[in-house]
Amino acid sequence: MIRKLSSSGKWLERHYRDQFVKKARYQNYRARSAFKLIQMDDKYKLLKPGMIVIECGAAPGSWTQVLVQRLKLEPPNPNPTGAVIAVDLLNFTPVDGAICLPKTDFTNQLCQARIIEALNGRKADLILSDMAPNVTGHHSVDHERILSLVNSAFRFSTVILKPGGTFLSKIFNGNLTDEFIHSLEKHFDSVRQVKPEASRGDSTEIYILASKLKKNYFE
Ligand SMILES: C[S@@+](CC[C@H](N)C(=O)[O-])C[C@H]1O[C@@H](n2cnc3c(N)ncnc32)[C@H](O)[C@@H]1O
Repeated sequence: MIRKLSSSGKWLERHYRDQFVKKARYQNYRARSAFKLIQMDDKYKLLKPGMIVIECGAAPGSWTQVLVQRLKLEPPNPNPTGAVIAVDLLNFTPVDGAICLPKTDFTNQLCQARIIEALNGRKADLILSDMAPNVTGHHSVDHERILSLVNSAFRFSTVILKPGGTFLSKIFNGNLTDEFIHSLEKHFDSVRQVKPEASRGDSTEIYILASKLKKNYFE
């Protein structure tokens, strides 16, 4: 007998067969998306102990777990100079070693002011945006909504990053991608599109890696 699956049944079947779901369970990551950051870091060497990293869209916290591990911020002997500030609209269980701001809208100026205050005059090395809106299923709407979130993180990055700093952001690929990349190119020496293996092939999700914030931005 041929068994027909509903779309939620197909999602569940794919989820349980997914190698990154299994690996996340064995390695105690809160979500399979941990492996997207791990793969991008393994390839582009984004993370080092001593860095200051701001993470926008952090819940449930799997990227925060990776950041705390790779920046060596885990208690009881955390690296004394590094920091991770992890923000999400949703509530999420704090990750030891990171400054977590749950129930906080990153696009709100008060949130950005809190981050500046927490940094106490220091600038960040890296801004990550894995923020995503609640998807509507209409690609152009979801594409524009994610770009509006990411543009808020981009504007903040030009204020809070050190010269030479890095901005990595998730978008849903679409007709405004080139325009977004061009605006990044005005501020960063190198901008490239990245699709880690753990990002599902049938998803329009891509990451834009903008490296080396130009020094002359500050002159
Ligand atoms: C794909 S999830 C992030 C997953 C996370 N990187 C991880 O690995 O655990 C996207 C997150 O973006 C958050 N988000 C969306 N809009 C936001 C906003 N304005 N401010 C902060 N977080 C936001 C959502 O609440 C959601 O938790």
